[in-house]
Amino acid sequence: MTSRPLALDSLCARLNPWLKERLRTDAEALAKVAVDESGLPPGRAGAVVFPKNTAEVARIAAEASALGIAVVPRGAGTGKSGAAMPQNGELVVDLSQMNRLLALMPHDQYAVVEPGLITGDFHQAVAEVGYFYPPDPGSWESCTLGGNIATNAGGPRAVKYGVTQRYVWGLQIVTMRGDVLRFGRRSIKGVAGLDLTSLLVGSEGTLGIITEATLHIVPAPEAVETAWFSFADLFAASRAGEALFAAGLVPRMMELLDQAALDTVRKVAPFRIPEPAGAALLIEMDGSPARATADLERAAEIILAAGASDSALAKNEKEREAMRRTRRLVSSALKEAYPFKMSDDIAVPRSQMVPLLEQAKAAGASTAHLVCAYGHLGDGNLHMNLLARSAEERQHAGPLRHRIVELAVSLGGTISGEHGLGLTKRELLPLEQTTSVIALQRQIKQVFDPQGLLNPGKVWPDV
Ligand code: MLT
Ligand code: ZN
Repeated sequence: MTSRPLALDSLCARLNPWLKERLRTDAEALAKVAVDESGLPPGRAGAVVFPKNTAEVARIAAEASALGIAVVPRGAGTGKSGAAMPQNGELVVDLSQMNRLLALMPHDQYAVVEPGLITGDFHQAVAEVGYFYPPDPGSWESCTLGGNIATNAGGPRAVKYGVTQRYVWGLQIVTMRGDVLRFGRRSIKGVAGLDLTSLLVGSEGTLGIITEATLHIVPAPEAVETAWFSFADLFAASRAGEALFAAGLVPRMMELLDQAALDTVRKVAPFRIPEPAGAALLIEMDGSPARATADLERAAEIILAAGASDSALAKNEKEREAMRRTRRLVSSALKEAYPFKMSDDIAVPRSQMVPLLEQAKAAGASTAHLVCAYGHLGDGNLHMNLLARSAEERQHAGPLRHRIVELAVSLGGTISGEHGLGLTKRELLPLEQTTSVIALQRQIKQVFDPQGLLNPGKVWPDV
């Protein structure tokens, strides 16, 4: 449903007396919320509000609903799929000012947070009491926990610790009707009723506006060991990764960078990438100091025997962070060099990684498009980037992108391992799910949002 400017004016007139400068309709504010990190052309917001608490969100939703105005919830705008981008003059509800840590209960292993809290700030607060919140999406320095929950974000540590969903125990949401609903648990166990918490995690702002979350925290591992391994090519790197799991080791991070990723990130990398290298693996082990050291030594033996040409062990936290940061910078370095690149986040069962890489690279070679592969090798989630320097090159790469996503699904995988569908992948959903399964999801959406006003046009393909 498209918002009518007149109705939007009425809504602003109703919200203005109490939100005042927290209701913005100026061009600067609207432009800021019209984009995310997907590379899509800017969308169009009608207005943006910055609520400070749940009661305000509830009132905004109820007023918007009464006037038939569509609403787009938004965190820091670091998403990769357009899920938090307005399209047709919607009211954007920017939750960045709801950023408090409401409770930190190490003994009970949970924390209560508002959605606008920056993920990295939460990591820090939890670390100060000797605890650990594992989800670490690449943008953790600037993304928000609400956005992580809305997209069920992953990150390098998911290979051992799982994705965001594993850590969301409970939620408070506001529905488009303006109802405040609280569900989930604060106890370690809790199985009453349907698991609505899991339903909301990854729903990309289409079912309710998250205003509070209870997040599970775990004791911090005492020690972490990190190493960088170089290979002649990415197939050798991928096989070495498999050998590690075959030996029964579970790294807390296993990241792959292919030659294109290495060549591009080298200029900005804080870690000096060894040369020559056709691919690299970044491996971390954690546990007690003895365990982490022994596991990394064993991993190094296996990886070198499997064909690594070189290895570098981080000697301290500074060196560890330089290696991790080098990996994290790949996305922005590629974007800088190839502003029109297409990026996906397909995932396959780990055993299918070598076939996926072989077939995707072959498909790229046959169409003369440069395919760059990097990402979370350990959990089968790769960022396949089609490197394009112009809008024309990007458009030509469309069929190849489709082929690679289809390939992932045919290997038992998924079209999205961690970024969500938003606008960029919603038309691909039928590759993975049947019409009946998609129809069932639309029915669920209808129950939560009968008027279809909450984040319209996202996740599901047009009918
Ligand atoms: C990453 O792993 O770096 C992020 O998910 C971002 C991306 O590369 O698309
Ligand atoms: Zn990623």
